[in-house]
Amino acid sequence: MRQLDLVYEGKAKSVYRSDEPDRLIMRFRDDITAFDGEKKDVLSGKGRFNAEVSAFFFRYLEEHGIPTHYLGLIDQSAMVVRNLEMIPLEVIVRNIAAGSIVRRYPFKEGTLLDPPVIMIDYKSDVLHDPMLNDDLILALNLVTRDELDLIKAIALKVNELLSDYLDARGITLVDFKMEFGRRDGEICLGDEISMDSMRLWDRETGRSLDKDVYRLGKGDVIAAYADVARQILSEPAGGAP
Ligand code: C5P
Repeated sequence: MRQLDLVYEGKAKSVYRSDEPDRLIMRFRDDITAFDGEKKDVLSGKGRFNAEVSAFFFRYLEEHGIPTHYLGLIDQSAMVVRNLEMIPLEVIVRNIAAGSIVRRYPFKEGTLLDPPVIMIDYKSDVLHDPMLNDDLILALNLVTRDELDLIKAIALKVNELLSDYLDARGITLVDFKMEFGRRDGEICLGDEISMDSMRLWDRETGRSLDKDVYRLGKGDVIAAYADVARQILSEPAGGAP
């Protein structure tokens, strides 16, 4: 497969057309940004760890019945994906209060959220990803009521699958972000599932194992990404879930 012209450039990924119809190449770059792009760096090797972990989770989710855009890895930092009609929503599932929910609402960091809380933002750099509610999502005609219900159901199922998988490896899935698109009219999980889009805590120590290491200057980001990627890709002590 050949990589052709650039179709989309995000803060940490570039998407290219390929010479196969309906197949895109999603390349994970070493760029890392935080605080709406105010903090920026290039960390050699980051793209590879995120591509590896994303590819692994997409395969895992497909095996458990979740439709995703993932088709395969073509090199260490690039995935082949189906060309979805992307929906400009950032769907966040939270199991534990951390990050913006603690800054904006009276939650104490570390509070268990049971049932998990789904928050949906409008994906727009210009508008700084404002939070939506169901009425706004429907008024903006971003999805139908049925699609919204399905997106939330898939989001909770993905949360269950990832939480169980990570828990077996001593990692707590605090929260994570997903993006969805349509393929032949069907809702399908797209984008990435990586250390850039998840908040992960070591269950024993509470240590951050994700982009918070970068956001909050908590240490060596690449060492943390390498370490958590190794844990995610390994068999747990008591056998795989
Ligand atoms: O910043 P906040 O606490 O709202 O983030 C919640 C989760 O969503 C975190 O895991 C974060 O990494 C992810 N997120 C993301 N992309 C965004 C916003 C949040 O991956 N644009």
